[in-house]
Amino acid sequence: MTTLVTGAAGFVALATIEALLARGDTVVAFDRAPIPAEARAAFARLPGRMVEVGGDVRSAADLARAFAAAPVDRVLHAAVITAGPARERSDPETVVAVNVQGALAVFRAALAGGVARLVAPSSVSVYGAPPPGTIAFGEDETWPRPSSLYAITKLATEQMLVRLGAVHGLSVATPRIGSAYGPWERETGVRDTLSPHRAAFLAARRGGLALLNRPTRGDHVYVRDAAAGLIALLDAPSLDRSVFNLGSGVATDVAEFCRALARRVPGFRWRAAGPDETPTVVTHVPFDRVAMDIRRIRDATGFRPRFADLDQAVEDWLASTASA
Ligand SMILES: NC(=O)c1ccc[n+]([C@@H]2O[C@H](COP(=O)([O-])OP(=O)(O)OC[C@H]3O[C@@H](n4cnc5c(N)ncnc54)[C@H](O)[C@@H]3O)[C@@H](O)[C@H]2O)c1
Repeated sequence: MTTLVTGAAGFVALATIEALLARGDTVVAFDRAPIPAEARAAFARLPGRMVEVGGDVRSAADLARAFAAAPVDRVLHAAVITAGPARERSDPETVVAVNVQGALAVFRAALAGGVARLVAPSSVSVYGAPPPGTIAFGEDETWPRPSSLYAITKLATEQMLVRLGAVHGLSVATPRIGSAYGPWERETGVRDTLSPHRAAFLAARRGGLALLNRPTRGDHVYVRDAAAGLIALLDAPSLDRSVFNLGSGVATDVAEFCRALARRVPGFRWRAAGPDETPTVVTHVPFDRVAMDIRRIRDATGFRPRFADLDQAVEDWLASTASA
C-alpha cells in the first residue's frame, strides 16, 4: 500500500509516516522542507520504504512529480500553515493560498492520480468556543464557529473537499483532529502555536521549572492516537461520511498533563506563572474547549484511542526515540 503524504516533514505527518512504515507500507513523503535527519534515520530502521519528494502543494507540477515517484493508492494531505495572530495580520494571502488553494491542488492531483481516498485533516478549532451547556463537540450537533484565520481556512477546506469529493466521486475524509501533542513535534516555521505539552516536556527533560500561563482545557490528543485514526480512515474499505472528530474523547488540561509528567520525571517542577513572570508553557487558545464525541470514527473504522490516559501518553513519549 502506498500513501502520498503532503506536509511530510511536519508533526502529525511524521507520526503517521512512522506508523505506516512500521507496518511495512510505502510512503511518498512530499514537503517543501526536508524530512528532519533524526526522523530519516529512525524511519530507515523500519520495514517500510519512504521516497522523499520536495515541492510545494500549490504547484501542480510539483505534485505531478510526487505522483510519478511511485504508484499512489491514497493521499494524506497534511501540509498547512498554522497561523497565529501576527501571521494573520502580516500574511493572510499565504495562509489562504497554502491552506485552501493548496488543498484544491492536492485534490486535483489525487483525482488525476486515480487514488481510492483522500484524507485531509481538519481541526477541532473549526468549532471555536463551545456554546454554554455544550458537553462534547458533535459533528452534526455543534455548529462550527471558527474564530481564527487558520480555523476559518480549515472549515472552508473541509467543506470544499467534501463537496468536490461528492461531485467527482472521490472518497474524502476530513477528520477534525484535537490539539495534538507527543513525539516529532518541532518548529517547522509555519506553525505559530506549538503545544504547551511540548514546552512542559522539554522543561521536564532539562530538569527545569515550567511556568504555565493558563491551563486551558480541551480535547488534547496524543499524536500517535491521531496517527492511528488517520490510518484507520485511510484503510477503511468504504466510508459513508466525510466529517469525523478525531480526538482522545476526553477533556484534559495542561496542569493535569504536568502532574502526569511530574509523576514520571522526578524533579520536574511546574506552577502557574505569577503576574510579573514570563510563562514558559503557553497555551494559545484563550478559552476552554470540551471533549470531542468520537463515536462516529469509532463506529466507521473501529478506532479507539490508546493513550487517552495521560500517564500512558507520558510514558510512551518518554520511551520514544523521537525528539520533542
Ligand atoms: N498539530 C495539531 O495540534 C493539529 C491539530 C488539529 C489539526 N491539525 C492538522 O494536522 C495537519 C498537520 O499539521 P501539523 O500540526 O503537523 O503542522 P506542521 O506545521 O508541523 O507541519 C506542516 C508541514 O507542512 C509543510 N508545508 C507548509 N506549507 C507547504 C507548502 N506550500 N508546500 C508543501 N509543504 C508545505 C511544512 O513544511 C510542514 O512540514 C494539518 O492539516 C493541521 O491543520 C494539527
